[in-house]
Amino acid sequence: MKTFKIASIPGDGIGPEVIREGIKILTKTAKVDGTFQFEFTEFPWGCEYYTKHGVMMDDDGMDKLKEFDAIYLGAVGYPGVPDHISLWDLLLRIRKGFDQYVNIRPITLLEAAPCPLKDTNREDVNMLFIRENSEGEYAGAGDWLFKGKENEVVLQNGVFSRKGTERIIRYAFETARKEGKTLTSISKGNALNYSMVFWDQVFEEVSREYPDVRTASYLVDAAAMLMIKDPKRFEVVVTSNLFGDILTDLGAAIAGGIGLAAGANINPERQYPSMFEPIHGSAPDIAGQSIANPLAAIWSASQMMDFFGYENYGENILQAIEKVLLDGKVLTTDMGGTATTEQVGNQVVSYLEEILGQRVVEK
Ligand code: NAD
Ligand code: IPM
Ligand code: MN
Repeated sequence: MKTFKIASIPGDGIGPEVIREGIKILTKTAKVDGTFQFEFTEFPWGCEYYTKHGVMMDDDGMDKLKEFDAIYLGAVGYPGVPDHISLWDLLLRIRKGFDQYVNIRPITLLEAAPCPLKDTNREDVNMLFIRENSEGEYAGAGDWLFKGKENEVVLQNGVFSRKGTERIIRYAFETARKEGKTLTSISKGNALNYSMVFWDQVFEEVSREYPDVRTASYLVDAAAMLMIKDPKRFEVVVTSNLFGDILTDLGAAIAGGIGLAAGANINPERQYPSMFEPIHGSAPDIAGQSIANPLAAIWSASQMMDFFGYENYGENILQAIEKVLLDGKVLTTDMGGTATTEQVGNQVVSYLEEILGQRVVEK
């Protein structure tokens, strides 16, 4: 039987609460299929680990992770450990170290998911954000000069390499072509007079290789406004690391809330493991109360199924999520319900079983 080895890093705050539910869904899918299985290995890395051991992950952590087929991550960051330490030493270290340069974030309004925009049909919100995930504004380069002095200056450099920019834009064109969708580039060349001028130039160059793909280009400020005012004009979207981060939280709000927003960090060449995670954080304000919405983590699990070539199961998991939303009886508080994280997870499992048409007796 085919075995997929998954490294799970539940991480901080609500991370473990939501990852537990995602693992249930993946395990159930494999069990019903019967031709493959998942083998999960949990790594206890995160802020608590840092306070005990002084590191966010083991020194040989990346070597350990390299052996896996994929990584399933909850969230990283918690009060008590500075965010720039916890995130750079765990989450960003993995994204960069494994060259997961494509961050795929669907902003799709599922049936019955709450949308705060008036007069918006479900079909109007169906965007696929492809965020550059390895460099740009997140290059980590900069300097802190004359610390504490009157003439203190802080520099934070963006790095946009030809290789890094071309490959993400080409990936987005390939996706748009495959799906027969338009491709929109979001940048800011009017103010960022090096990085974004270069981005626009590369977008223009690569677009010549794809005459069949219709394109559009917006400045990020206008794009933020238009995502609210007229979301249907965005189909496949390609943007930089920071803009992609910000706009996908905005998108999450449009498509049912942050508790429903998923992401996949992909290394397309499959040289290294890819990583699947909800786009939300550790939510310290609700951690430990069993009220976190697990649907984002479950959607990320669906993206993992797609990645392994089981798009049918990926779709089935989304259908099960949709049934939970439609039914509306078992939802967490962020979606207006009173259910616990576990109850929502169990409800998805039970609809998934129904969809897969098979009842499997628990061992
Ligand atoms: P957050 O996403 O953790 O929380 C923002 C708001 O959304 C909070 O009110 C929270 O309760 C709510 N929320 C988030 N996920 C939810 C869910 N599944 N169900 C219901 N409500 C949910 O963002 P933040 O508060 O800005 O960040 C908290 C910490 O998480 C920080 O340390 C931050 O750096 C980190 N962070 C990590 C990741 C990651 O690991 N990928 C992503 C974002 C933030
Ligand atoms: C995300 C998060 C991360 C990012 C942070 C925690 C570094 O906000 O995955 O959206 O900015 O990429
Ligand atoms: Mn973010």
